Parts: sequence; structure tokens; C-alpha cells
Amino acid sequence: MQISGNGQRGRFIVFEGIDGSGKSTQIQMISNRIRDMKLQVYTTFEPTAGTIGSLIRQMLSGKIKIDQRTLAFLFAADRMDHLVNDENGLREKIDQGELVICDRYYFSSYAYHAQHMDMEWVIHANSLNADILRPDLTVFIDVEPETCLERIKNNRSDLEMYEKIDIMKKVRSNYLTAFERLKDIEKIVVIDGNQPVDHVGDIIFREVMKTIPPA
Ligand code: TYD
Repeated sequence: MQISGNGQRGRFIVFEGIDGSGKSTQIQMISNRIRDMKLQVYTTFEPTAGTIGSLIRQMLSGKIKIDQRTLAFLFAADRMDHLVNDENGLREKIDQGELVICDRYYFSSYAYHAQHMDMEWVIHANSLNADILRPDLTVFIDVEPETCLERIKNNRSDLEMYEKIDIMKKVRSNYLTAFERLKDIEKIVVIDGNQPVDHVGDIIFREVMKTIPPA
């Protein structure tokens, strides 16, 4: 069953956090809980698995060299494609009443690219995307950068461009700056992710339920 009947719009919920913050685990947990309630949920992520997203991943891994400003534009372009492409564009899904959960959205751009340029520029570069679809809720899982780096090292041997402690601290601080800057027009919850995973999952579940329209 869809979350919204009678032609009402769906909901768009975004998960944000620095690398290793446990977003993917929490998205999986919340999606399972929602499906257990016999509700439909569509999960997705950025950078996408599409043409632009795949190009971006090659740049993040260092396989293709890229200027940071160009990379920031590519993320914005990947996001536009995610929103409006004919096959599975998110804007239409929301219009048709679907619940969509997305791993990263424009706050990732504000936080990651503001390392290299003015955050206002990044916000501006994403303004068309924001006009097309603003999340009903952005869940930020806030975990100590040291803990995140440990988790990443335990899982993988090859680290990506942004997976270094100083960078992770800076990105976390940029996230908090962006939340403060946009708090009047965005709905954001910051969740202490340094707690046991099930406890974090329960807090997230309660927040997400507040966003879903009553049956
Ligand atoms: P991530 O969610 O870590 O993907 P995976 O778990 O598959 O590695 O995202 C990849 C990286 O992309 C991450 O370091 C953050 C970065 N990123 C940006 O720099 N800008 C953006 O707009 C987005 C969406 C991600």
C-alpha cells in the first residue's frame, strides 16, 4: 500500500551524514520496518547509479582527475537527472504518492563542496534542484569523525577522496553550518549516532513516522 491515497503527494525523506556514519544501515532498517507495516517505500541514493553518477564515482576514486568546481556541478547535474529523468525520476514518484528515502541529497553538496568553495555558491548551484524537490525531512546521523574513520578502515582497504580525518571533521562542521543557515526553510533532525545502532534506529523510526501521513 502507498503512504498517500487519493492523488495526494508522497513524502521525500533524506539521510545525511559523513562517510561511515551508518546511513546505509539505518536506511535499510527503517525501510524494513516500514515494509513490515505493509507500506511501500522506494529507496535510492546519490551519487546515482546512472551515467553521471558513475562518472562521479570514478572521479571520487581518483581514476579520473577533476577540478572540484566541475565535480560540484556534476553532482548538481546528477541530482537533476535523479529528479526528472523519464524512467524513474523522483519528482514524479512523489507526485504519485510514493514514499521515497534517499541516501544523500543537496546537503551533501553543501557540506562536501564547501571545503573548496563558498557554501553560498553551492547552494546557488543547487537551487533549481531545491525548487523541484525539497525534502519533507532530512535526517542527519551525527557520529564522531574518529569513529567513522575506524569503521571505514575496518570495512575497506582503499579509501576515497574524502575519507581522511581532517576532511571528515570539516565536512561535519559544514553540515552543521548549512543546517543553521537553512533552518527556516528546511525540516532537519540531528540524531546522535554515537549510540547503539538499534537505539538510533528507534529514534529515526519515531521521527520518520511523524512525517508520514496517517492512514
Ligand atoms: P557515499 O554515500 O559515501 O557512497 P558509497 O557509500 O557508495 O561510497 O557517497 C560517496 C561520496 O560522495 C561521499 O564521500 C560524499 C560525496 N558526495 C559529495 O561530495 N557531494 C554530493 O553532492 C554527494 C551526494 C556526495
